[in-house]
Amino acid sequence: MRKKSISFIFASLCLWGVITYFLFLDRPIGREYNKDNIEGQIDDIEKKVKQQFAENKKFIQALKHNLKDQKKSKDAISAILVQNLDNNEPAKELVDKMDRQPRPIPDQEKNRKVDEIKHTVSDKFLPNGNPVIAVLVFSCNRITVQRCLDQLISLRPSAEQFPIIVSQDCDHEPTSTIIQSYGEQITHIRQPDQRDIDVPPKEKKFKGYFKIARHYGWALNQVFLEFGYETAIVVEDDLDVAPDFFEYFSGTYPLLMRDSTLWCISAWNDNGKSELIDENGHDLLYRTDFFPGLGWMLTKDTWMELGPKWPKSYWDDWIRKPEQRKDRACIRPELSRTMTFGKIGVSNGLFFEKHLRFIKLNDVFVPFTKMNLTYLLKDNYDMAFVNEVYRSRVVNYTELKKDAIQNPGPVRITYHTRQAYKNTAKMLGLMDDFRSGVPRTSYRGVVTFFYKGRRVHLAPNANWAGYDITWS
Ligand code: UD1
Ligand code: MN
Repeated sequence: MRKKSISFIFASLCLWGVITYFLFLDRPIGREYNKDNIEGQIDDIEKKVKQQFAENKKFIQALKHNLKDQKKSKDAISAILVQNLDNNEPAKELVDKMDRQPRPIPDQEKNRKVDEIKHTVSDKFLPNGNPVIAVLVFSCNRITVQRCLDQLISLRPSAEQFPIIVSQDCDHEPTSTIIQSYGEQITHIRQPDQRDIDVPPKEKKFKGYFKIARHYGWALNQVFLEFGYETAIVVEDDLDVAPDFFEYFSGTYPLLMRDSTLWCISAWNDNGKSELIDENGHDLLYRTDFFPGLGWMLTKDTWMELGPKWPKSYWDDWIRKPEQRKDRACIRPELSRTMTFGKIGVSNGLFFEKHLRFIKLNDVFVPFTKMNLTYLLKDNYDMAFVNEVYRSRVVNYTELKKDAIQNPGPVRITYHTRQAYKNTAKMLGLMDDFRSGVPRTSYRGVVTFFYKGRRVHLAPNANWAGYDITWS
C-alpha cells in the first residue's frame, strides 16, 4: 500500500516535471524569464491542465454515450450484414506494398461538439430494423422535377424509411406549384436566401455553380441539423432512377456504416455507356476513388466534416480534392442506377449530347439487401482487386481493339504518363479527364471497364505510389 502511494507520488512528480519541461521548450525564443514570472506561468499551466482535464472528461462522457448508441446500431446492422471475411492471403503482400496511403481517421470524432451527439438509434431505424434514409431532391426552375418525383414515389418501398425532402431554390412559381401538388407525400422546403451572389468578374458566366453550392450547403444543413436525419441520398431534379434504386442504397448502407474508408455510395458509373459495361453485370459493384455524385448517399458525420468548410462554388470538384476526400472511396455500380435527362441546365448541353445521354440506366432489379456485399469492404476488396489487376495479362490497345486475344479472362493495358492515359482513354471511348489527379471511376489508379466481352483494367505500374494532383 505504502509502496504504491510512493510510486504514485513519484510518477506524478515525473509527469509534472515532463509537462513543465515541455512547456518551457514551447516558449518563444528570446523572451526573458524571472522567478515570479515562472511561478505565474506555472499557475497558468495548472489552470490550463485542469481545464483540459475537465474538457476531456466531458468529451469522454459524450463518447461513451455515442458508443452505447453505436453498439445498439451495430447490433441492428449485424442483423442485415452477413459477415464473411474472406482473406485472400497470396495477394496480401502485394497490397501491403502498394498501400502507401494511410488509413483515414475521420477527424470529425475529434472535433464533434458534445451537444451535437444527441441522436439516438430510434431515430435511425424503424421498428423492423430498416435504416431511415432521407432523400433530398434539389430543384430550382424546371417543372420536370415531376418526372423525378413520380419515379421516386412510385419506387420507394416505404415512405417512413425514405422520407423525400424537395428543396427548392430560385423561387420559380410553376415549379413550386408542381412540388406542392405532391402534398403529404413529400416535404417541400425553400432556400430562403435569394440575394444575388457576388461573383468574381472572370467567373460571371459560372454564377449558376455559386447558386448551386449555396443551395447545397443550406439544404444539407436542413436535412442533417434541422431534421436530424443520420443518412441521406442526394438526388437532382433531372435524374431518372432505376427500379432497384432504393434496394441499391439499402443493400450498400451497411458498408457505408461499417467501412470508414468509404464516404459515399453513388448510383452513377461515369463510364456507364453500353459499349463499356457488362450489360449482364447488373449486380456488379466497385470501389472508386473518384467521387461520382449523381445520386449519392452520405452520412451526417461526413456532413459535419464538410458542412463547416463548404465552398462557394463548384462543390463537386471541391469535394474531390485530397483535403476533403482524405483517401476515402465511394461504391459505384457497373450499370448506373441514375441517368440524367437534364439537357438544359447550368452546364452547357454539349456534355450531355456527347456523353451523359449514352449512360445506360439499369433495368433489372437486383436484391442487394439479400446479397453478401462484404467483398466491397476495403480489406477484402483491395486484395482481390490488386490480385486480379496485376495478375492479368498485359495487352496493347490494338490487340484489344481487334479482339485478337486468345485466352479468356481479364486483361490489362498499362499507362505511365498523363498523356498515355488520355490517349488510350480517348481511343476506347472512356472519359479521359482527371479531377485532383484522379481519372473518372479509378481505384488505386486503375480504371476498370468492359470491352468486347472482356474485363479490362487500364492500370499504372504495380508500384504506383498515389495520384499526381498535377494531372488534369
Ligand atoms: C452539374 C452536375 C451536378 C452538380 C453541379 C454543380 C452533372 C450532370 N451535373 O450540374 O451534379 O451539382 O454541376 O457543380 O454533372 N439548381 C439550384 N439552383 C440554381 C440552379 C440549379 O439549386 O440556381 C439545382 C438544380 O435544380 C439541379 C442542380 O442544382 O438539381 C444542378 O443543376 P443543373 O442545372 O442540372 O446543372 P448541371 O450542369 O447538371
Ligand atoms: Mn443536371
